[in-house]
Amino acid sequence: MADKKPFYITTPIYYVNAAPHLGTAYCTILADVQARYRRAMGYDVKFLTGMDEHGEKVAEAAANHGMSPQQWCDSQAPLFKNLWQQLEISNDDFIRTTDERQFTAVQYLWNKMQEAGFLYKGSYDGWYCVPEETYFTENQVRKSDEEHKTEGQHLCPDCGRPLERVQEESYFFKLSAFQEPLLKLFEEHPDFVQPAFRMNEVRSFVEGGLQDLSVSRTSFDWGIPVPFDTKHVTYVWFDALLNYMTAVGYGVNTDEARSQLAHFWPAQYHLVGKDIIRFHCVIWPAMLMAIGASLPDHVFAHGFLTVRNPETGAAEKMSKSRGNAIAPSDVIDLLGIEGYRYYFMTDVSHGEDSAISFERMEQVYNADLANSWGNLVSRTLNMSAKYFDGSTPNLNGWVDHTGVLREVTDGLVERYCACMEQFDYVGAKNTVMELVHAANHFIEDSAPWNVAKDETRTEELRNIIADLLEAIRISALLFTPFMPTTSAEVLHRMSLDDQIACNSLSEACTWGGIASEVAVTKGDALFPRLAAKKE
Ligand code: MSP
Repeated sequence: MADKKPFYITTPIYYVNAAPHLGTAYCTILADVQARYRRAMGYDVKFLTGMDEHGEKVAEAAANHGMSPQQWCDSQAPLFKNLWQQLEISNDDFIRTTDERQFTAVQYLWNKMQEAGFLYKGSYDGWYCVPEETYFTENQVRKSDEEHKTEGQHLCPDCGRPLERVQEESYFFKLSAFQEPLLKLFEEHPDFVQPAFRMNEVRSFVEGGLQDLSVSRTSFDWGIPVPFDTKHVTYVWFDALLNYMTAVGYGVNTDEARSQLAHFWPAQYHLVGKDIIRFHCVIWPAMLMAIGASLPDHVFAHGFLTVRNPETGAAEKMSKSRGNAIAPSDVIDLLGIEGYRYYFMTDVSHGEDSAISFERMEQVYNADLANSWGNLVSRTLNMSAKYFDGSTPNLNGWVDHTGVLREVTDGLVERYCACMEQFDYVGAKNTVMELVHAANHFIEDSAPWNVAKDETRTEELRNIIADLLEAIRISALLFTPFMPTTSAEVLHRMSLDDQIACNSLSEACTWGGIASEVAVTKGDALFPRLAAKKE
């Protein structure tokens, strides 16, 4: 690990109040694609995901199921872990905030904060949204009579659900002391928050003034106790945000932990949904500044997956509580795992909200995967096997033969990488599809079936098939982060197993990497066309 450049990427840790849905899986796949891409680029990747298990919301979910919070969390962990495994998530670690390591790190944080003078004891009197685990002041809340619901009820300004009145002794974190340092951070690192348009929202929030934050609770006990005042438990976000450092050794006093922390911290990317941007771009950097730790390089905020409300026609955020959540298994049944990953990663723009639909899924699957990519692979491998006796052609002299496809690959990988690095997966996919489409056209234009009939044109036939195989090899490598199993299968069918776990992508994509006279397997269709329309 020492000489490789680190790349540390995280997802939010998910509340265990309900089973994961498409929205939750979305961010995890987004991070997985980046982690796989960075591994292929030779980085020493640490990819972290996990579960957020403390707080009132989880305690309530446990009580509703007649279980203790710990029992409930333990019962939910396999749902998350199994789904990630099924979706080919290549996380290197899975953290749970009930892990011993989180307990140690959070208590260490309390002591550090106390020493640094950024805590004081007071009492909190205000509003609390349990589903969002967020505090709101009197002037932030919405009153329900404005909406003709239950008169006088106080509602969450973000999610619209009823708020709870909280009056309790609490420790406060001096967040207000960080207004200037945060504005300076945004000024000096305008790409701290990505995409750029999200930065404005964060900056104006901070410019509006920051209030000290209540970071402990005394009215319930499902949380990590404050080490020097154990009737207080840690506010769930103060606990949860630290997971990113816990997982790389924060708070552990061993040489190994210290060297891991030095290697992987600060993280390169925290991926989050736009609803939790303030926690990650305001509270988290302020916490890190308070304890003198380095700040993550970037927080990338994605939009919501939305679905159309059948009655009003309006696009609505997909969520369990709205009852419009789609289970990942429904999409897996339709598209398969790799079709699922491909659709969400390459047809959904990752900064904005995106409406998803089964109709669109089918269109994308059929057009890109069945008709273009899958078809190219099956036609080419069939022809190679048919014309060259079950093998790839003899390549002696081929590399010097510059075909149209070779020109298409000029600068393609650089453009692909530039897109991948900005989480522009739609753009990255488009570059690969340029090659795939060019190869399909090349088949039509060069009509290898006619060339094969003419014994004087054997070299031309060899060049056509070799060019096509090479275009497929490069496409498979570039598609790997999105569809790892299919790409591995394609490379395997061309006897290129040694290229499957690539860690120098640019080099591997240099023209000329196919193998001469090795077995070609035709195999089954990679993406059979979807016939019936799903209701
Ligand atoms: N536990 C906190 C995060 C703590 S990180 C230190 C949390 N959990 S959550 O389970 O409620 O949400 C996790 C993530 O899922 C958020 O980033 C949220 O934006 C995302 N999504 C939930 N529904 C979503 C969609 N419909 N679409 C896309 N992402 C959505 O917040």
